[in-house]
Amino acid sequence: MSKVEGKVCVVTGAGSGIGRALAVELGRRGAKGIAISDVDEGSAKETAELIGSSSRVEIHAAGLDVGDRDAFADYATTVAGHFGAVHQIYNNAGIADSEPVDQFGYDRYERVLKVNLWGVIHGTKEFLPHLIASGDGHVVNVSSLNGIMAQAGLSAYCASKFGVRGFTESVALDLKEEGHPVRATVVHPGGVKTGIASSALDWAKQSGREVTAEQEERARFYNEKLLKMDPPRAAEIIVDGVEANKPRILVGGDAKLMDAVIRIAPRRWPVFFSLLQRRFEKEFESKRRG
Ligand SMILES: NC(=O)c1ccc[n+]([C@@H]2O[C@H](COP(=O)([O-])OP(=O)(O)OC[C@H]3O[C@@H](n4cnc5c(N)ncnc54)[C@H](O)[C@@H]3O)[C@@H](O)[C@H]2O)c1
Repeated sequence: MSKVEGKVCVVTGAGSGIGRALAVELGRRGAKGIAISDVDEGSAKETAELIGSSSRVEIHAAGLDVGDRDAFADYATTVAGHFGAVHQIYNNAGIADSEPVDQFGYDRYERVLKVNLWGVIHGTKEFLPHLIASGDGHVVNVSSLNGIMAQAGLSAYCASKFGVRGFTESVALDLKEEGHPVRATVVHPGGVKTGIASSALDWAKQSGREVTAEQEERARFYNEKLLKMDPPRAAEIIVDGVEANKPRILVGGDAKLMDAVIRIAPRRWPVFFSLLQRRFEKEFESKRRG
């Protein structure tokens, strides 16, 4: 029997991208209830409408900033009260921000870690009693390829995503040792075609940082080159992995390839990666020159 059918699932950051696709996929697989939240409440409601029009699942849609611990605690109580039980939480909400360490202020580290790492810790801890009470719980935490592989300019993002991986793997051991009926899974997506990179650029502009036309063009180029998979396919792979009780889900050929390269050549992989980057830079320059 499907692990999703008849279950109540919670998805954070479900107003767009992978989170929206996850909510839709859970509805498609017969979830009984889905709690959809996003810091942008309007987008969470749009996702709810999208699912509502195509299935009979009961939806609870709300605004939630996953970095706000008190708000998350209230939210967990509200959702558990609304549905009577909660079986699965997908801690998906996340943001990107990049620049070399010497140009990256503490405020930016705090912002990224608060959403990407604290958001996952809050979601896991606040929903854990309800997942245990359900008798068949699952916590699914979205890390990244950058939770396996570090990249220049991404020290905050990598710190948060390696953190999500370590946190989730440790939680999985706790749950097993304590005999709780809850699984924990860490998800490492490679490039997925979402707005995460353009949201980061928008935020840079909103906070008054200069973003040159060349930087925008480069970001667009890299998005086209690297963010290839459609979110519905990513959601399908993630939910398949959850249904199979996988402790670790790699999403996409890029994530699988880099995971293998890092294991096979733990010291040499940065050489491989910089060759790849140099190739992209060459392509970008020739595209710019027309
Ligand atoms: N797209 C990729 O290539 C990729 C690769 C690896 C990992 N991921 C991870 O997948 C997850 C989903 O990202 P996505 O690509 O779908 O991006 P996205 O920008 O499309 O979606 C992220 C969602 O999170 C929401 N959000 C942002 N801050 C929030 C907060 N404080 N509280 C609640 N919600 C908040 C946004 O409003 C947005 O709807 C993230 O954790 C991201 O790091 C994405």
